[in-house]
Amino acid sequence: MSATAALPAHAPARPAPDAAPAVTASELLDFALRTAADTAAVAALPLDPYERTWIRLDGPGGSEAWLIGWPPGAGTGWHDHAESRGAFATARGSLTEHSLAARLPSEGWRSLELAPGVDRSRTLEAGTGRAFGQHHVHEVLNASAEEHAVSVHVYHPPLPLIRRFGRSGPVLTLEQVERPEDWQ
Ligand SMILES: [Fe+2]
Repeated sequence: MSATAALPAHAPARPAPDAAPAVTASELLDFALRTAADTAAVAALPLDPYERTWIRLDGPGGSEAWLIGWPPGAGTGWHDHAESRGAFATARGSLTEHSLAARLPSEGWRSLELAPGVDRSRTLEAGTGRAFGQHHVHEVLNASAEEHAVSVHVYHPPLPLIRRFGRSGPVLTLEQVERPEDWQ
């Protein structure tokens, strides 16, 4: 037989050695919701009256996951998640998400003006969550003046970087690019 003979039609496809296993959006959201409902896991998170706190978790299929505590008024600021998809779910309290129904250019800009009508907002009470796709742009905050919030966040593939943005009305400004070594 020739060394270049074609594989039989039933031969399994060989995945690329560095290919991440596929994890669907619903699996990410399911993990976030199940972990948010795990009262023992949620109770293991130390809370601070002024600063966010977090514990790294193992998400499904090699995903990056975090349990995060949000004191009243704490927020992330505007950011995106590069090529990663993700999900998050509120375990305690309530979180507000502001997001953009817009795709930002991947590079080559420092400042841009958002088109009218791209802003979206939602409130995620305890026991609820959402999944999001690649290039999702948002900020998440605990708008409560009194109550802590706790939530579960999961990303696949693990975040290669986060871009942080400043915002003044419709003008978005690229302020910082963070890489994993900045938050681990
Ligand atoms: Fe985020």
